[in-house]
Parts: sequence; C-alpha cells; structure tokens
Amino acid sequence: MKRIYTQEANKHIGEQVKLCGWVATKRDHGKIIFIDLRDKKGIVQVVTEDNQDIGKIKIESVIEVIGRVKERPSHLKNSTSPTGGVEVEAVSVNVLSIADDLPFAIEKDKNDVAEEIRLKYRYLDLRRTKMRNNLHSRAKTIQFLREYLCKEDFTEVETPYLSKSTPEGARDYLVPSRLQNGYFYALPQSPQQYKQLLMVAGLERYFQVVRCFRDEDTRGDRQAEFTQLDIEMSFIENEEDVLELVEDMFTKLIEKVFPEKHVTFRKWPRIPYSEAINKYGSDKPDLRKNKQDPNELAFAFVVDFPMFEKTETGKLTAVHHPFTAPKITDISELKNNTMQIKAKQFDFVLNGYEVGGGSIRTHDPAILTAVFEVLGHTKEDIKRQFGHLLQAFRYGVPPHGGIAPGIDRIVMLLQNEPNIREVIAFPKTGDGRDLTMDAPSTVSEAQLDELGIRSIDKKEKKDRIK
Ligand code: AMO
Repeated sequence: MKRIYTQEANKHIGEQVKLCGWVATKRDHGKIIFIDLRDKKGIVQVVTEDNQDIGKIKIESVIEVIGRVKERPSHLKNSTSPTGGVEVEAVSVNVLSIADDLPFAIEKDKNDVAEEIRLKYRYLDLRRTKMRNNLHSRAKTIQFLREYLCKEDFTEVETPYLSKSTPEGARDYLVPSRLQNGYFYALPQSPQQYKQLLMVAGLERYFQVVRCFRDEDTRGDRQAEFTQLDIEMSFIENEEDVLELVEDMFTKLIEKVFPEKHVTFRKWPRIPYSEAINKYGSDKPDLRKNKQDPNELAFAFVVDFPMFEKTETGKLTAVHHPFTAPKITDISELKNNTMQIKAKQFDFVLNGYEVGGGSIRTHDPAILTAVFEVLGHTKEDIKRQFGHLLQAFRYGVPPHGGIAPGIDRIVMLLQNEPNIREVIAFPKTGDGRDLTMDAPSTVSEAQLDELGIRSIDKKEKKDRIK
C-alpha cells in the first residue's frame, strides 16, 4: 500500500490508508489510545486499541499505521487543525524505531530551551513546526529566485570553494594544501572575481546560490558561512539595470511566496548615501510606516556611496570592494581627489538591515590598477594578488556589474525571526562552533604531518585522535 501524508487523510474518508511518522503525543484512555501522528506536512489523530507495543512506546518514536479514515462526529471536530475533521482508526501499528527520553519537549516554545541545547540536538529542534516552516520557506524562496533568473536568461554556474584570498574586508578561512605543502587555499568570502571572469568568458548573465565564508565574529545577522544569491550581468548601462531586476524579482517573490506581506513602497526609493546618513542617521534606514506591523516590508536602495573610507587604524579601504567603478571622468582624480570620489555602488536594504550589496565594476585595467595603488598595494602585490583578473581584462571584457542579496538575512526578515540562526539548518554559535557535529575539533598527528603543519600547543590537546 502506498503511504500518504497526514494532510491527505481528509481526501480518503472511508478508505484504508498507510501513514508513517513520529508519535507527537499519546493519550492513554484505558482501552484505547489516541496518538497525534506527525510527518513532514502536519499532524493527524490516530485511534488504536491498547496493545503491549503501543502502550509502552515513548513519544517521538517512529511508527507505521495502517487504518481506516473516519469522519469525526461534529461535536468532536477540531477546527484549529487542518485534519481536525477526521481520525484514523488503526488496524495495525508497526513500531519502526523506539525513541529514548528526549532532552527537551519538541513543541515547547523554543525560547524556553537554551540555544546551546537546541543546537546540540538540532535534528530534534528542526522537528518543530516553526523551524520546519522556516526551512520550507527558505527552500521556496530559493526555488522562486532560481526560476525567475533562469526565465530571465541567467545561467547558474558553480565556482570553486577551494580558492584564493579575495579582498571583501573580512578574515579568510584558510585550507592547507597537502599536494603543495606550505601553501594554502582560502575559502571565498564571495565569488566576486570568478563572476567577473565569467563575464570575460562571455556568460553575460550569471547567477549562483552560493556559500560564502568569512572569519569574523558572528552575531545575530552574521554567520561564518552564509548564502548569497550572487548575480552578474554584462552590457548594462548603469546601476538602474541591476536595481530594476532586483526590484521586480523581489516584488514578485513577495506576491507569490509571501502573499500575507505588504510593501511600504510600490516603487522602491533610491536614497543617496549622504541623505540616508543626514536624514536617518544610518546607511540602512528602517523606512517602515508602522514598526509594530510584522507583515510590512520597506524595501529601498541606498546609492552614491563614497568610493574610499579610512579604517580605525587610518588605513584607506574601498567602501564596497576595489572592483567597484569610481565615478570619475579622469584617472588622475583617484590620486588627487581620493576621499571625494563617489562609487557606482548600491546597497539593498529592508526594514533596517543591509540585505544585499553590489556595484558596476571597473573593467578598464588601468583604472583598476590605479585603484589598487591608491589602496596602498605595490606593483608586485597587485600582480601576485590580482594579476589573473587584470590579464583577463586585456582579452576583451564587456562592461558589467552585479549584486549579491544575502539569502539568510532576507529569509530571517520574511519569517519574522530575530536572528539568522533560526533560518539556517545547522548554524554556528557566536564563538564559531557547530554544536551538532562538535566542530571545530582536533585532528590526528598523521593528518597534520601530511599537511606539513605543526600545532604549537599540541601537548595540551588531550582529545587529539591517535
Ligand atoms: P557584500 O559583502 O556586501 O557584497 O555581501 C552581500 C550580502 O551578503 C550578506 N552577508 C552576510 N550574511 C550573513 N552573514 C555574513 N557574515 C554576511 N556577510 C555578508 C548580506 C550582504 O548584504 N561580492 C559582493 C557583491 C557584489 O558586489 O556583487 C559582496 O559579497 O546580506
């Protein structure tokens, strides 16, 4: 017999069906037992006569039920549940796996359970309706964006994770090379240079749902690894080409996948950076009309950023990244008028969060080299770090630009969650640990030897694998 989902029971009144899932609750009424059976789609009530097996199993055990779907008498119907009008009278119940006592009750409010415990037993935490909904919404969001971009003639291309350091402003995660001892890959902070190389390659319209890695302190809206919808387009005239694509794509996403939400502005405002700072005191202003409304979405773009800024230590850096095109008419302005130059950069903001960033790129190798020089790179340094890109730009490069909306932040806001960990299946803690897998962890001396690596405090690592 083919298994059906709990939510399909309504369509099978009077028929015998097979259901599989977890025992969410069990109520013993002497001769009969009521079970709320939970599967991927929801819950249905099963009624079974007491027998040894069922009587003693603990909740969250996995069972298979064969039974007849019956309409409940009207006074016993539960209008709060989509399957509250029916119940399944079990003919047989087969216990597939017995659960132990649980570290916490599944449907208890998640705020009542310490987050460390939720993360350690994430597979149990993800059994909760709320968390499952978050994962389903995230998947639907990604599916919609993918389909939209494919229809608009974008090609999805996977770029390497074992790569080279890129200047996106954070610390890199390094991976030692076994075959090239003493050398390291860097996990990409974003596929920025690869997507620009794909424009040189003639892809014209590229996207990728891609993991990015940044070794920075994690907080509510930041993770060490996170997901971007990375986009790049050739032969675009100006910033508006990218902004219009993003505006149309996300407007349609909300209409189709989140119809309960409403937008503050039909046409998203484009706010110059200086106005954002002067008027709202932030480069990611929260423009909602009513901040108590959980369904209001105030999308906007912040444009006209300065090209360069000084860090706390006085070092000059690019506000977005050095590949962003400066708004100049002459290359000499880069040296003579550095701090006044604006960039063809745009940020995508939603309800007070920066949810995406992008720019029109410099495709003239002379200007790009001059930007690197202004940022203090020596000629050798430029050749070593960016030689591949500068060389590629000498073989016919189309004008191009792009953007990268952050999927985790956007889904967090759409799901009204307070932090991005709630919309990531297996997130890291604030101090960068994966509590489910217990990572990072020690490795064996043999593994280190192969990589030509010696750990300074190896004697202290008592849990090292022998
Ligand atoms: P940027 O660095 O602005 O641009 O990143 C784009 C978007 O990625 C998300 N994001 C993060 N999300 C979670 N955790 C993090 N640590 C984190 N860091 C960034 C944000 C952010 O707006 N290559 C450029 C894009 C481009 O120019 O096309 C880039 O990565 O939502």
